[in-house]
Amino acid sequence: MFEVLGRTEGKVTAFRMLKPDDWHQHMRDGDMLKLVGPMVSKRFYSAIIMPNLTPPITTAQQAFEYRQRILDATEPGFIPLMTLYLTDGLDPEEVRKSHNAVWAIKYYPRGLTTNSDSGVKNPADLWTPGTKPYDCLQVLAEQRGVLLLHAADGFDRAGAELDPYDQEKHFVMHTLPEIIKAHPRLKISVEHLSTKWGADFIVTHGGEYLGCSLTAHHLLLDRRDVFRGGFHPHRSWMPVIQPPEHKEALRHLATADKPFVWLGSDSAPHPRVKKEAACCASGVLMAHAGIELYAEAFEDMKALDNRFERFASLNGRKFFGFINDHMQTIELVREEWKPQPLFYAESGENLDVSELVPFRLGENIRWKLAA
Ligand code: NCD
Ligand code: ZN
Repeated sequence: MFEVLGRTEGKVTAFRMLKPDDWHQHMRDGDMLKLVGPMVSKRFYSAIIMPNLTPPITTAQQAFEYRQRILDATEPGFIPLMTLYLTDGLDPEEVRKSHNAVWAIKYYPRGLTTNSDSGVKNPADLWTPGTKPYDCLQVLAEQRGVLLLHAADGFDRAGAELDPYDQEKHFVMHTLPEIIKAHPRLKISVEHLSTKWGADFIVTHGGEYLGCSLTAHHLLLDRRDVFRGGFHPHRSWMPVIQPPEHKEALRHLATADKPFVWLGSDSAPHPRVKKEAACCASGVLMAHAGIELYAEAFEDMKALDNRFERFASLNGRKFFGFINDHMQTIELVREEWKPQPLFYAESGENLDVSELVPFRLGENIRWKLAA
């Protein structure tokens, strides 16, 4: 389906592709959802919707109602794929009941990212029979649902607090193998993979039951960009942006044409006041350029071809079992534009507290969605 529509001096300047899916999307709720919804549905055919609202989405009923609010805020035809938030108390029966309402369950390590206070306290519960999280994963595997992992450990086995730059490494080396061993028939997606250690693990073990999503920010930034001249709160996420060799490893993984690697933008908007605060909230809006930014990374890697379409529009769908042969397409053109500040309050009364800083505010983005 991928079709080059324009070329100048050997370089692609316009192309058409199957409308992609976003396998990791924080659409939020209320006014923010109303702002973000159309951005997502313009670019993506469907999206996995993260459940870390306050309170978190932990029942089929909540997922069903949230889905309706998303449908109200997006363009007709957009398909929100709902998820449940794995807590210590999530009842396996609720997972069973949710079979038709949700596609995946999200694991958050407690305290390591935005709205993760309800996350699982002890990661070992994921592989310890007799605990509720273990039983939930057993049911999820029976239903052929997907476990979405925020792949980070807060502590090592001796109880010492880990450095944020080592959290994913520790998880991949010590926690992920235990989960896989305990649930060999469970489909697992490592979310927003951020390190070369994670990339090595996925290349070795990826397949029918294991894959990963990659964000545009981890493909475009390295740690120098976060700290150049001082700390940049609007380039700050969890998992943290690593040194350059990790970005290179992730770029190679993204463009290596592996069926177990797909797009998950982790677009995660916060009001400006929460980013420029005593404790900077983790997460940044990417949805305003949710596919365009990936095109930049693939262009840098000279991989703006079928590989891009498989990564963005086909691999995730196959893994998740989202059988859907739609033929909708989008077109991107190589035309620079600058994102502007955004405001999500409907009334406009609270402009000071409702401003949202999109990724690359005031800087250039190289690709543009054709209207
Ligand atoms: C996400 C958010 O803001 O909800 N933040 C982030 O830094 N990515 C949560 C998450 O996915 O970790
Ligand atoms: Zn996220």
